[in-house]
Amino acid sequence: MGIWSKKSIAQLQVDEGAGHELRRTLTGFHLALLGVGAIIGAGIFVVTGTAAAQHSGPAIILAFILAGVGCLFAGLCYAEFAAMIPVAGSAYTYGYATLGELVAWVIGWDLILEYLFASSTVAVGWSGYFTSFLRDYLHVNLPAAFITAPFEVAAGSHVPHLTGAYVNLPAALLVGLLTVLLCVGVHESARVNNIIVVVKVTVVLLVIGFGAFYVEPANWTPFIPENTGHFGEYGWSGVLAGAGVIFFAFIGFDAVSTAAQETRNPQKDLPVGILGSLAICTLLYVLMAAVMTGLAHYSTLNVPEPVYVAISKAGPALNWLRPIVSLGAIAGLASVVLVMLMGQPRIFYAMSRDGLLPPFFSRVHPRFKTPYASTLLTGVVAMAVAGLFPIGLLGQLVSIGTLFAFVVVCGGVLVLRYRSPELPRPFRTPFVPVVPVLGILICVSLMVGLGLETWLRLLVWLAIGLAIYFGYGRKHSRIGHGERAAAGPPPADLGGPL
Ligand code: ALA
Repeated sequence: MGIWSKKSIAQLQVDEGAGHELRRTLTGFHLALLGVGAIIGAGIFVVTGTAAAQHSGPAIILAFILAGVGCLFAGLCYAEFAAMIPVAGSAYTYGYATLGELVAWVIGWDLILEYLFASSTVAVGWSGYFTSFLRDYLHVNLPAAFITAPFEVAAGSHVPHLTGAYVNLPAALLVGLLTVLLCVGVHESARVNNIIVVVKVTVVLLVIGFGAFYVEPANWTPFIPENTGHFGEYGWSGVLAGAGVIFFAFIGFDAVSTAAQETRNPQKDLPVGILGSLAICTLLYVLMAAVMTGLAHYSTLNVPEPVYVAISKAGPALNWLRPIVSLGAIAGLASVVLVMLMGQPRIFYAMSRDGLLPPFFSRVHPRFKTPYASTLLTGVVAMAVAGLFPIGLLGQLVSIGTLFAFVVVCGGVLVLRYRSPELPRPFRTPFVPVVPVLGILICVSLMVGLGLETWLRLLVWLAIGLAIYFGYGRKHSRIGHGERAAAGPPPADLGGPL
């Protein structure tokens, strides 16, 4: 027992399922829509520009393919777990079932980087489009000191320096507003989610379809700009670094697994949802990256609203598309922030029910039936992070944290295949061990591409997490002490993406 104790899969199903059968209405198609809704966000609308300008040049297209393939392998492993443990799950739950409590804690702690920090990152991206929309269409110029992060970290440096600005107020306010909505239980309904997904995909298709006519092929040469002599600044190492940075754009497909209980036929529909949303997004991203770097020289894309800037390069002919891009990004990015802000309390809730976090984290509001305490805590921290830090720093931290979780999930599939080959697996990751091993290799390479500073930040984060586990979680763990997980199902509207 102790730090290696595991939850049995049967127990997981009882914990999650007892007395709270959600209506099983979703199909694979719905799940793919849900995934696309969670995936398309600041990654394609903002980070693509930074990654092309600073790391890959036009070869950002290759970076998207590489990151997409890495996600595909990790996604195939995710799908095996999601179908085998079709409860509202996450890598934390999968880790608890296969690799034991310590590893589950590490993943859960690491997922804070994915959900909480990603909500801040996307809010910063949202702020860029929001302020440029105010400036260009409503002629409202917010003071620079209140729309910029006060801290910035120069490339190759560990220490943040001051920019002279005070706070990125729009980013912080967006997180605050959505947090209040989540506390009182105003959920993004399936219908609103579907509308926003359609809007986002339409905007991306319009940019690709109309932008393609104004591409200057000269902007694509040299396709892989020559390396500057530093790792990650163009050349092949730049492709790798760019892939690590824009990996952020793919994060979210795992949100599909959280809807397992609302799915008609999870064994079939979950893999369809996960892999379908990944395939759609990879295709859209590659085309979008090609059009953006074809419209504008990559060096001009290091701005808060690169899609908008790229479209502007097409001249007056595409003026009509600019406000559409802005509004699409404003609505689409806000919905991603909402999904991320919903995911985090759900993970805190699961960890608290298992005793790894204090009971505060699983407090449910008596009237609103929402996990208001952990939602508020998540919101306050995410607000501060969104207001204070720049998107580049945050995005890379989110990427490395999520890549790490994926490495553990791929490893988990391998471990469980050898240790418990007899378990029924409605969806089997194909070509084991090749796919999980390749998934691990690609994800670790992308992590290498993210550079030493980001690794150090991840290690510090994990060290803090281990200190908390050995100081609190290990002593209070219910499973580790032979108890069952806390009785009682999670409230029905705990906050999955639907
Ligand atoms: N994939 C999400 C985005 O790009 C996190 O905003």
